[in-house]
Amino acid sequence: MTLRNLLSMDLKFLLVGGKGGVGKTSVASALAISLAEEGKKVLLISTDPAHSISDSFALDFSSGDITKVEGIDGELFVLEINPDAAGEEMSKSLGMASLQSDQLTNLLGGQGLSELQGLGEDLKEIPPPGMDEALSFAKILEYSQNDDYDTIVLDTAPTGHTLRLLNLPEFLDSFIGRMLKMKAFISNAMGLVKSLFGGKRDKDTTIEKLEAMKEKIMFSRDLLMDPLKTQFVIVMIPTLMSVFESERLSSELKDHLISNKFSVINMLNPDNPGCKHCSQRRQEQLKNVEYINSVFSKQDIKVIETFENEIRGIDMLRSFASGLLNEE
Ligand SMILES: Nc1ncnc2c1ncn2[C@@H]1O[C@H](COP(=O)(O)OP(=O)(O)OP(=O)(O)O)[C@@H](O)[C@H]1O
Ligand SMILES: [Mg+2]
Repeated sequence: MTLRNLLSMDLKFLLVGGKGGVGKTSVASALAISLAEEGKKVLLISTDPAHSISDSFALDFSSGDITKVEGIDGELFVLEINPDAAGEEMSKSLGMASLQSDQLTNLLGGQGLSELQGLGEDLKEIPPPGMDEALSFAKILEYSQNDDYDTIVLDTAPTGHTLRLLNLPEFLDSFIGRMLKMKAFISNAMGLVKSLFGGKRDKDTTIEKLEAMKEKIMFSRDLLMDPLKTQFVIVMIPTLMSVFESERLSSELKDHLISNKFSVINMLNPDNPGCKHCSQRRQEQLKNVEYINSVFSKQDIKVIETFENEIRGIDMLRSFASGLLNEE
């Protein structure tokens, strides 16, 4: 199995992650171009506020809208999500903005209803911390629900962020579950108050929206856990620091049942016999490559050297992709 096999799998999600600065965006962009040029309709997404896909393509995708990439022999679209804006948009569409925390806490205070005990804690902050990120992930999951795109390539931010991202389906699921309980209680209470004073009970669609979202999250979680539909590619560089972090990432992926059959070791120093320093460095890196191969023995690991120039623009990304897909 090589990265070329990865391209011929019928993947819905291709996630690319690893330590900061190792080449995640370059690998994600290069593989997205290859997939598109082999006939797949691809959406390349980043949630990194630094907008690195624009830098990698040397194009501007910072509008926050899905943009078709010109100059590709196929269909490639890019979306650079701004987590804050996406979170706000989703909370608005769910009607969460209408939930005022102090209003809710007052309503719940002293109610003594057993199923609501402990929920007051959740209400101190609405939306809770991490919600923007969670909702922008929910937005990404939404693209996997329909057939608009064959494959979604996700360029993840450095490891810590990725681990949080993997916890998001659970987080959203339990948060939405709690919201549903509360919303039902609150809207009943509000409706009761209104009807006592002769007002009409409005139909509130938030509960249905939350329920629909919960269902979507469960569906996407199944997709994320299906090794034929989702693969996570870990990108590392041939240093021990990067290897240790990748081991941690790999074990987290196992815990979350996300398949990781392919990894990339990027930026190996090219062979340069004329330079003693470079040769020493390369020898050390090759030892690390050997170590990585022994640790990740069940994986296909592609080693790729440092190019003479930065990987920037479609042509460079294409050369980088052919290096990655080269089966030597
Ligand atoms: N094999 C390579 N040869 C030469 N330059 C490379 C190679 N791989 C990546 N680069 C360059 O290294 C820099 C970092 O790469 P990239 O942005 O893809 O990393 P990243 O892991 O996405 O970083 P971040 O953690 O900041 O998101 C970029 O300037 C990129 O062009
Ligand atoms: Mg990046």
